[in-house]
Amino acid sequence: MSSMRRILGLLKPYRLLVYSAFFFQIIVIISRLVQPLITRMIVNDVIIAGQHDILVQLCIALLGLVVFRAISGFLRVLLMERASQCVAYDLRTGLFRHLQRLSFSFFDQNRVGEIMSRMTGDLEGIRNYLAVGLITLFEQGVTFFGALIFMFTLSWQAALSILSTLPFIAIVAFRFRKRVRPMFREVREQSAELNTRVQENLSGIHVVKAFVREEHEKELFTKENQKLLEMNLKVTDVWSTYVPIMQGLSEICTPLVLATGAILMAAGQMDLGTLVGVTGYIWMLTQPMRMLSQLINGMTMASTSAEKVFFYMDLGPRIKDDEQPVQVPQRSGRVEFENVTFQYDDQAVLKDISFVAEAGQTIGIMGATGAGKTSLVRLMARSYDVNAGRVLVDGVDVRKQRLQDLRKHIGYVPQETFLFSESLFENIRFGKPNAQLEEVVTAARAAQAEDFIEEMPHKYETVVGERGIGLSGGQKQRTAIARALLIEPNILVFDDSTSAVDMQTEYLIQQHLEHSSKGKTTFIIAHRISSVKNADLILVLNQGEIVERGTHAELLAKKGEYYQMWQDQLTAITGEGGVA
Ligand SMILES: Nc1ncnc2c1ncn2[C@@H]1O[C@H](COP(=O)(O)OP(=O)(O)OP(=O)(O)O)[C@@H](O)[C@H]1O
Ligand SMILES: [Mg+2]
Repeated sequence: MSSMRRILGLLKPYRLLVYSAFFFQIIVIISRLVQPLITRMIVNDVIIAGQHDILVQLCIALLGLVVFRAISGFLRVLLMERASQCVAYDLRTGLFRHLQRLSFSFFDQNRVGEIMSRMTGDLEGIRNYLAVGLITLFEQGVTFFGALIFMFTLSWQAALSILSTLPFIAIVAFRFRKRVRPMFREVREQSAELNTRVQENLSGIHVVKAFVREEHEKELFTKENQKLLEMNLKVTDVWSTYVPIMQGLSEICTPLVLATGAILMAAGQMDLGTLVGVTGYIWMLTQPMRMLSQLINGMTMASTSAEKVFFYMDLGPRIKDDEQPVQVPQRSGRVEFENVTFQYDDQAVLKDISFVAEAGQTIGIMGATGAGKTSLVRLMARSYDVNAGRVLVDGVDVRKQRLQDLRKHIGYVPQETFLFSESLFENIRFGKPNAQLEEVVTAARAAQAEDFIEEMPHKYETVVGERGIGLSGGQKQRTAIARALLIEPNILVFDDSTSAVDMQTEYLIQQHLEHSSKGKTTFIIAHRISSVKNADLILVLNQGEIVERGTHAELLAKKGEYYQMWQDQLTAITGEGGVA
């Protein structure tokens, strides 16, 4: 119920529209309610009493009512549709903005397809209810009680005979709602599931085709689609059992009223005009009963959708600004890890990590895959919070800094390159949207991206497709490096960023970086020793722990894990054991 109240709350900014729509709705209802009174007059005064002179006036009144009702009905639909579209817009904007605030952990746990499903299907469900369901509920409710009151004034006996069916209708309606509610929840879940399947299939279509798994994917999709069909059919089954029950109950009303009327007329307690009038209200009383299951359907669907949408809305970002953030007096790029322990779920990924990266130093991070290298650098930008210890950037705990300030000073080249479906120019200046072409070119040059961009059909204006399709892996990496360099950060992080470029290009990038990253603290995560060997400090990670640290020469002298890697890499190149 509370999600229903929240849906209504969304209408608040558009109350003028909503009140006007309800006003016109009331006019429609009143015009309907008075109509039987006019027919009653036609029967009693014109036909029976013979006052033929008022027939024309009464007919004009009837015609007037019809026109009036049509115009009001039109305005009501127009206004309510408008309000609902505005609410849908607000909700979409709100949800999208909210998603931007949420932390990495949210996106680790929620799949894109599911989020998309909330942004589209669920939102449309809510909108539809606001546009149609809500006002219809009001219309039918008010018409019902209005007609009941009018009927009471004409004949309380006839009204009572209809009232006697109400308890049965209420019981059926209650049971119906109870049964469909969980079913709608399932339908929404399943439809999110299906969405996820499609989204993942499309994102991974290269893999699907490469491994000739189209058939398998089709089967998976069909299975999920089938499930959705079955769930929908289940709802339809329930719905089609309840609809005839409701209709049956409502149809009993007509003979009940007619019988009551006939008895009363026979006893001389009711005139013919009144009976005709009373029957005019029967439809108004039974129509809401007939529509009840439909109304319950709409309401239940909207409230289950709203539950899902509000669930996202209510999630706060796990990582947020401190209430009293500390202003960092001067940014130089010094980084310090103090006994840092970190875990994503229940297993420690980093254990008791301590080191200092002085401003301007280059830090190499090596270690087997899964050792925790990416996790370590993510803590610096506070993508996640540590479980114990502290990460200090420029002498201040990152949790005490304003997130925006902190992240603005870190140029990050992620392990998996992502480019937007925009021009290379826009992609490179993503972090500094007002950068001029000159700056973009300088950054591209430093990242060894200039040559290939110059060869592109539209140079910097070349649009790269989703995920940078059309670029090679190494070209994408270099574009991402340029993007990080352009913001002129104090801290640069290269997470395996030259893994896709040849050694010659990597060498050239390094040469340039030495120049352009002067004074910047640079973290280089790499698997190739050649990438880190000039670093001021090399950390060797193993299962979340720093097992060795020092310069290239120091580590070789240690003859430990680093030395072993060096040996292995030399062997791989020369085919024989290297000499330290
Ligand atoms: N988002 C996540 N949620 C849960 N566990 C994660 C997440 N990201 C990484 N892990 C786990 O944390 C551990 C360290 O991962 P991390 O990505 O830091 O390794 P890495 O050293 O960067 O490896 P690679 O060289 O392959 O990039 C792994 O065991 C991995 O399964
Ligand atoms: Mg990694």
